[in-house]
Parts: sequence; C-alpha cells; structure tokens
Amino acid sequence: MTSSTDPAGFRPPPYPYDRLVPLRAIAAQHDGGCVDLSIGTPSDPPPAAVVAALGASNLERSYPLSVGSEAFRRAACEWMQRRLDVAVDPQDVGACVGTKEFVAGLPHWLRLRSPQRDTVLYPAVSYPSYEMGAILAGARAVPVAMDAEWRIDLDSIDDADAARALCLWVNTPGNPAGGLDDLAAVAAWGRDHGVPVFSDECYVEFTWNGPRHTILEHGHDGVVAVHSLSKRSNLAGVRAGVFAGDRELVHYLREVRKHAGFMVPGPVQAAAEVAWADDQHVEEQRARYHGRLVRLREILAQLDIACALPGGGFYLWPEAPGGDAWALARRLAEDIGVLGSPGEFYGAAGAGHLRLAVVAPDAAIELAARRVAAR
Ligand SMILES: Cc1ncc(COP(=O)(O)O)c(C=O)c1O
Repeated sequence: MTSSTDPAGFRPPPYPYDRLVPLRAIAAQHDGGCVDLSIGTPSDPPPAAVVAALGASNLERSYPLSVGSEAFRRAACEWMQRRLDVAVDPQDVGACVGTKEFVAGLPHWLRLRSPQRDTVLYPAVSYPSYEMGAILAGARAVPVAMDAEWRIDLDSIDDADAARALCLWVNTPGNPAGGLDDLAAVAAWGRDHGVPVFSDECYVEFTWNGPRHTILEHGHDGVVAVHSLSKRSNLAGVRAGVFAGDRELVHYLREVRKHAGFMVPGPVQAAAEVAWADDQHVEEQRARYHGRLVRLREILAQLDIACALPGGGFYLWPEAPGGDAWALARRLAEDIGVLGSPGEFYGAAGAGHLRLAVVAPDAAIELAARRVAAR
C-alpha cells in the first residue's frame, strides 16, 4: 500500500508566530486585552487616496503585467530618486506581490540559473524567510555572523561558502535588531566574490541614525535592492513591492517570475503608484513610530528592562535578563499583557533578546503604560 506522505519528504516546521498562541491567551486576560507587539504588522491607516485608487482603477478584468506596468515601475523609480537619491531605469525594476514571496522564492530561481551553486548566505539574526527560502529550494542556508551592533560581519564568511553562494542577503535597517550595514562594503564584497547581493531595504524610510541608504548608491553591478509598500505606506494587506538593480539579474528574475505566474493585481499596481508618489504620509508614520519607540523604551525602563533605540526600523530589541527571552516574554504577558517575540524566531544568535514591534496604536501602548503604573 502506498502512502500519500513520504516520511523523508519536507515537513514545514511550526510557523514561529503560531508558537505564541499560549502567551497571547495569557496576555488577553488583562482588562483591555492583549497589547500585541509580536508581529510587525502595521495598524495605522494607509493614505485615503491610495485606498480610493484601489477601487477606481478599472483594471479588474484584464491580466496585469507580471513585471509591473510602466507607470507602477516609474512611480517606484521616482520614489527612489526622491527619497534615496539614486537614478533607476524602469526597465531595471520588477514587481513582486509583497516582498516575502520574493525572499522565499529567490533561492529556487537562482538555483535554476546556477545549478552548480547551492548556498544562501544571510544575516544570522534576521527575518526568517531568508533561511526558509533556502530550505524551500533544497539549498544550504548558511547564517553570517553579526557584530556587536547587529551589522553583518563580512569577514566571517568562509571562502568555501562564498564560492558556493547563490546570493548574499542583507537587511538594513535590520529586522529585528535595527542595525545599519555598511552597504558600500557589502556591494564590494559581492563583486569581489562573484556573489549576487540582495539588499532588503523595506525599512529604509524608518532610518533614525543618519540618512537613508540603498545599496544602489554603489552602482548596480551584481546588486539588487528589494522594497515594499507594506511598512512604508501601511499596505501590508495589499501586497506590493519591487526589486531593482543589476539589469541582467533583474531581467532574469522578471522573466522567470512571468512564467511562474507572479502578478501584482492591476488595482494594486494603480494604488501603489499613488502610494509611491506621496511622502507626506510617510513623514507622519515616521513620527508615530519614533514616538512609540521612545515611549515603549520608557515603559520598559520602569520595569528595569533597558534597551537602546534602534538605528532604524520599528522594533525594540531588549536583552532578556539571564538571556532567557521566553521567560521575559512570559513575564510581560503575565504582568502587563504585552506580547513580544522571543529572539530565537530570528536565529539562534538572537535567543537572548525579545523583539517588540511598535506597530500597535498609541492607545495600546498607553494601556501598557497604565498597567505598569498600576502594578
Ligand atoms: C525584513 C523584512 N523583509 C521583508 C518583509 C516582508 O514584507 P512584505 O512581504 O509585506 O513586503 C518583512 C516583513 O515583516 C521584513 O521584516
């Protein structure tokens, strides 16, 4: 008798955030419910003009362009010129359905192109989809050490791993720890080693220390920047992003994605054009996130939990007493009904920290403050 499941086949591991269900239930017992700071999902509104554009595009009936319409890609390029000070030609840009699918799918497509290579390099404490993309492609996921400021340590990469690498991922500002990489050094490393570099810059608008940076400042050769509207414009539910840079790589990815049927829906592309074109709402969101980071840090200090403000992004990353992030997560859930994410979700090297996302509304953060005061 044959079984439909091969015991040696791939079994998806538990989804990290599903492991928080018991702690969420504990936090939810507080009057006013759980202050959920575990997932980086925006709760503030997107611009009204963007939402209106979704319904007014008249683009429902025909298939959208997989690479993104010329207008969608031009809007993204104009944004990159305005906010990141780089000139990008729309033909060097492709659309993605939010960037998670791009991150998770990339190793598979790169492997089809370079079957002699089998390794994905990614920051040791990072967004889990870099590693998962490698696993889904049957590739080796090799974490790269980070320095004391949570920047990627390029010198620690083994030459043998570099020789096998399909790509190097970097993420700056970084999730979860908020570090800011030296992107000039990253681009140079990729070129020196013949490894394509993918720079996930989805938090670039929320850079707090110094100017915003993209890897494309250092030329396009061998590098691709990845951008999303999810955080920038509170559009995580709408799913729109772009990848841009090295002409040959971008062209390959655009073609393979076209065959695979990845398409940002036409109404979403129309709405995204409106979002890329407006910076005012981003300035407002920056002020909200920065205010909440400062406020939450004060609240944690009252609990004797110290943490630095991040160089970028919207996460606090306190070190857990005794290095036990699960114990700190439980304490916050029990004592003040706040839910955070234990750092092991982002790699073993993050296990001693807790990630707290300031995505909840101000009122929820103030609720946490009142609970602290009332202890
Ligand atoms: C570093 C990083 N990259 C990519 C993503 C994916 O975002 P989206 O798929 O919404 O564009 C996230 C979402 O949390 C993230 O933190």
